[in-house]
Amino acid sequence: MGDIIIRNLAKEYVNHRILPRVKLNKGAASGDRVLVLDSIDLDFKDGELVCLLGPSGCGKSTLLRILAGFEFYSGFISIDGKQVQGPSPDHIFVFQHNALLPWMTVRENVSLGIRHLKKKQRNARIREYIEMVELEGFEDHYPHHLSGGMLRRAELARALVVNPETLFMDEPFTGLDFLAHMKMREEVVNMHEFIGKTIIMVTHDIDDALIMGDRIVILSGRPAHVKLTQKLDFSRPRDFRNQPELNKLRNEIFLMLGVNYAV
Ligand SMILES: Nc1ncnc2c1ncn2[C@@H]1O[C@H](COP(=O)(O)OP(=O)(O)OP(=O)(O)O)[C@@H](O)[C@H]1O
Ligand SMILES: [Mg+2]
Repeated sequence: MGDIIIRNLAKEYVNHRILPRVKLNKGAASGDRVLVLDSIDLDFKDGELVCLLGPSGCGKSTLLRILAGFEFYSGFISIDGKQVQGPSPDHIFVFQHNALLPWMTVRENVSLGIRHLKKKQRNARIREYIEMVELEGFEDHYPHHLSGGMLRRAELARALVVNPETLFMDEPFTGLDFLAHMKMREEVVNMHEFIGKTIIMVTHDIDDALIMGDRIVILSGRPAHVKLTQKLDFSRPRDFRNQPELNKLRNEIFLMLGVNYAV
């Protein structure tokens, strides 16, 4: 089914400096090369919720963008048996920064990916997903009328309404206050249990990864390679206080990431 296979993946960016026109004419700009990902081999199983961790700037967003088909890469990647060669409507991306269209209402933003459906069916789907993220009553609001948490929930509705096979989420809880963060965390886990789709989520929050993931993957600093991949066979709902093994793993991961004590 929708397994994701990554073999020998590498990614290098070439950053061209902006040079004065006279120099450009001499063809001097070759650019600085930055190797971001190196020899990555990974497998994600169909329906798995995998959390990707790693230091800032190591290439987590880059890896996610490559999987979503937004970037060129070298190596081999296939999703559901098809080699990744560009974006696909089956794979939906929730960006690190708010990506709702500001000139459209919540309803219009959510309807973007299902404009091909008949009006009645489309409206029913929009209603269903707006209810799921508890944004009833805000359908006709514009993004700048929403709080940070509401924006994130609207984005989730926009992503899920398409019924994607795979969901890529890049730090989806950025900018949420503590309570909204906890609530969204729970919502994503429930939603994952309910719809059973593959979710690959980048986070810098170790607790998110341990509470939510079926598995965690930790990347090293740049150029990123896989430092650890660990299955999380802990029952849900998870709680560090009542699950000593989970708490032990948490301390080990803090240590691995260079922090001597878990906060
Ligand atoms: N479009 C681009 N062009 C050139 N370099 C880029 C581009 N996008 C990212 N990079 C570089 O690739 C490296 C990895 O960036 P990336 O955004 O993937 O990191 P990240 O792990 O998601 O970091 P963070 O946790 O801070 O979001 C960085 O050094 C960045 O400067
Ligand atoms: Mg990032």
